[in-house]
Amino acid sequence: MLLKVPQWHSSLLTDYERLAIFKLAIEKYAKGIVYDLGTGSGILAMIAAKKAEKVYALELDSFTYEYAKENIERNGFKNILLYEADAEFFDYKEKADLIIAELLDTALITEPQVRVLNTINKKKVLKEDGKIIPEKAISTVQLVNSSLSYIHYDEEDKEKELSNEIIYEEVNFYKVNPLKVSYKFKLSGEYGENLGLKLRTYTILSEEFVSGPLRMLNPPLVIPLNVDGSDVKVKLSYKRGGDLDSIKVKVF
Ligand SMILES: C[S@@+](CC[C@H](N)C(=O)[O-])C[C@H]1O[C@@H](n2cnc3c(N)ncnc32)[C@H](O)[C@@H]1O
Repeated sequence: MLLKVPQWHSSLLTDYERLAIFKLAIEKYAKGIVYDLGTGSGILAMIAAKKAEKVYALELDSFTYEYAKENIERNGFKNILLYEADAEFFDYKEKADLIIAELLDTALITEPQVRVLNTINKKKVLKEDGKIIPEKAISTVQLVNSSLSYIHYDEEDKEKELSNEIIYEEVNFYKVNPLKVSYKFKLSGEYGENLGLKLRTYTILSEEFVSGPLRMLNPPLVIPLNVDGSDVKVKLSYKRGGDLDSIKVKVF
């Protein structure tokens, strides 16, 4: 495929593991009517369009939308209907066999995945046997040595691990999920200075296709606690579809 994209979409497209796992899942499940929510370059819509009857591709950002338009035309896809639209408020006229939503970020904090899929569930956009890719996101927490004193992504996953990694949430995208969440953890492990919480999100695209954190798919997020020690009790809250400023931690 020939693709012209803005800079950060180029990073998305060169994370080949991310692209490969979405391609495998989409090729397995695309049929009939498909919606690609947050189409970006249009790449996932074009993969789906080879198997589906019709693909609705929605993109919020007008600049990115123009690139998607050019890519879809240039590659000759006649069965993709592209809209410059907010997927949260779109008028979904047809029921879907498949919904693709790559509006992901670690712990679902900075992207509107939950807000958009809540709309899909409330409006019952999916056919009874329809599928959503991804279907679930599982997040974990671990105590680490934070190398920085502010919230940051640890793309290389290199900050020193001090405790076991524990699962603290499982978000099922076939359900309406809350936007504001709050969790209490008791974590213990090796002694460390500048303790931090490392959040990792695992993406369950479908039962066969699962991805761990990747450079451009839910990279590990580190939240510094600004304390030293070997065990902590913490309350963590954030808003899904908010931004990193919505993250609040309280150490007891
Ligand atoms: C993580 S990128 C994924 C792009 C593409 N689907 C891919 O996998 O390469 C998310 C895209 O969704 C768009 N987006 C974000 N919020 C949206 C919304 N509420 N409705 C439609 N598009 C949205 C962004 O502008 C961005 O292009």
